[in-house]
Amino acid sequence: MKKIVIVAVLAAVAVGGYFWLSPSPATQESELGGEIIVPQFSALAAEGEEVYNGTCAACHGVNLAGTDNGPTFLQTIYRPAHHSDYAFVSAVQNGVIAHHWNFGNMPKLDYITNDELVRVISYIREMQQANGIL
Ligand code: HEC
Repeated sequence: MKKIVIVAVLAAVAVGGYFWLSPSPATQESELGGEIIVPQFSALAAEGEEVYNGTCAACHGVNLAGTDNGPTFLQTIYRPAHHSDYAFVSAVQNGVIAHHWNFGNMPKLDYITNDELVRVISYIREMQQANGIL
């Protein structure tokens, strides 16, 4: 009887260890539902991610997931054909009067440099592409 218990415990530890050690897939979901895929970034986008996390993520969410303060970019309305790169430049330089949602206005973030903007946009586009927002 004791042996069976020990075997059962060892099996539980082995199975638990397998799940604990195996690489965990990205399980974060966007505010609209749907699992978020985080791709391998280009060097430019990887730098953009840092800028994004330091500024945009407070409202648009880590991994573009969205928050209570701003929309997720992982929805087709923000695809390049509907919100071009210029829309991103303008949003950051001029701010945005709320017109799509009820989160309120986006303040202008004119301390973001052009170099940073290029990187942030490249990060957002690579995230969108990986998640089928084309
Ligand atoms: C303080 C919160 C906040 C921060 C920080 C913020 N945003 Fe926004 N942003 C918003 C909100 C809210 C909206 C949605 C406005 C609407 O359409 O209702 C928005 C909308 C946008 C839009 C869509 C504009 C359009 O034409 O519809 C873009 C692009 C955007 N944000 C980019 C960014 C980027 C890039 C950053 C970081 C550099 C950023 N935002 C940081 C709150 C924020």
